[in-house]
Amino acid sequence: MKKMTSSSSSSYSIKYPPGPHSILPNKLLREFINNPIKTLMDIAYTYGDISHFKFGRQHVYLINNPHCIEDILIRNHKNFIKSRGLRVSKRLLGEGLVTSEGEYHDRQRRIIQPAFHPNLIKKYADIMTAYAANMCQRWQDGMTVDIHKEMMHTTLEIISKAVLGSEVKLEKDDEVGNALMVCMEYFNRLQMPFGELVEKIPILHVNKGYQRAKRLLDSIVYNMIKEHRDNEQRGIQQGDLLYTLLQAQDEEARIGRMNDNQLRDEVMTIFLAGHETTANALTWTLYLLSQNPTVGDKLYDELCYVLGNNNKESSSNGTSNSKIVPTIEDVSKLEYTEKVFRESMRLYPPAWTIGRQAINDYKVDKYVIPAGSIILMSQYVMHHNPRYYTDPDLFYPDRWNKDLKSHLPRFSYFPFGGGIRGCIGEPFAWLEGILLIATICNQWKMHHDTTHKVELKPLITLRPKYGMRMRLEVRK
Ligand code: HEM
Repeated sequence: MKKMTSSSSSSYSIKYPPGPHSILPNKLLREFINNPIKTLMDIAYTYGDISHFKFGRQHVYLINNPHCIEDILIRNHKNFIKSRGLRVSKRLLGEGLVTSEGEYHDRQRRIIQPAFHPNLIKKYADIMTAYAANMCQRWQDGMTVDIHKEMMHTTLEIISKAVLGSEVKLEKDDEVGNALMVCMEYFNRLQMPFGELVEKIPILHVNKGYQRAKRLLDSIVYNMIKEHRDNEQRGIQQGDLLYTLLQAQDEEARIGRMNDNQLRDEVMTIFLAGHETTANALTWTLYLLSQNPTVGDKLYDELCYVLGNNNKESSSNGTSNSKIVPTIEDVSKLEYTEKVFRESMRLYPPAWTIGRQAINDYKVDKYVIPAGSIILMSQYVMHHNPRYYTDPDLFYPDRWNKDLKSHLPRFSYFPFGGGIRGCIGEPFAWLEGILLIATICNQWKMHHDTTHKVELKPLITLRPKYGMRMRLEVRK
């Protein structure tokens, strides 16, 4: 990787784009830490597509133009590395896909990418619906649940089964489930665009249980790798992702298979990157549906039509036995369900911002961004831009017609990022999102508990700060 240098920028005087300036040092950084989304929204709408400000001595550029984002993430991606905060996550994720850089990343990506091909991902559909159906089975008519917790548990169960082929139990006293949660919290803190900076600020207490949790998870993952290798030697094929990764090799570079450490890093990465994002997306979707009953009814009509809910018979928890759980064949027919999920990720993008750092000076529009500067591209800010979305705050899944899709610039909607660093799990996430919405909403209607506050908590993912309490009503 090229060394970062600012020498080239000294040959001309730097003209900064417009942006907020404060005489008080770190005032903006404090505002950002308290409310990052509001801070970025205000800056983008006051100063336009390209703005500049400083966090301490660090120059930051907020880019809110789809064509410039495309240039950074696709055409000129080699000129950028991930921002420092993310690199700190290497302590947990090692050299997994999220944290590695440069040639090593690109090679690992080439090896792993085939395992995420939509045709291979299809085989996880039954796992997804089985866990979702189990969750629905546990619920009772009229009960109130924290739907965020429920989604976190179910998506964690799904990713564990899909990756390792084994169950992760999530009871209160379950060590593995807790260890995963501890690591995820830690991971989340460090993933903030200024994770490293933020880490130095005393308000943030570092989780003491983290080292213990990491050791426990490491030993489980290494054991699973050993078990998979033994099975492979005995000629036993397994259908999980770890088995696919074990088999994978870089044909292009004629490089052999991954060693145990590489596999550990990739598995841990997929564990952590692969469930909280989807859990948040689903939580916000269910919240939006509770707030927009007309959309909820239209969704239910589609589910009845596609899944054919006939011959109702009540089961012990009040749901109908005949409610059909969707299958992979139904997914392409669930067009409105797909639009609901798409629109929900527009309003509440689970990854709400992407950060990069320029390796060399970078020209954007009439400005030169000096090497070392941080660049922020926020999905949340872009997805609320009235230039691309009429009534941007409105939850309106029907806006996603062919006409809108064909006119929108590529990076005016980018919940999964893009390019070589874009989300490798995107096909998995779409499948899981659609199947879980269909399974849940085919059986349950949700009513938000109005005494319960809803607020955004933007860590690397966009969570509901106080969870999401919902009263469940069975669909009869
Ligand atoms: C709704 C769900 C999801 C959303 C919104 C999402 C979003 C994203 C975004 C925006 C990135 C790029 C970050 C950047 O450019 O800095 C990313 C990367 C990544 N995601 Fe996802 N993700 C989701 C689900 C998943 C799932 C289900 C998996 C795995 C099963 C996964 C695995 C990964 C990995 C490994 C990367 C790093 C890719 C690389 O750098 O090569 N994600 N995700």
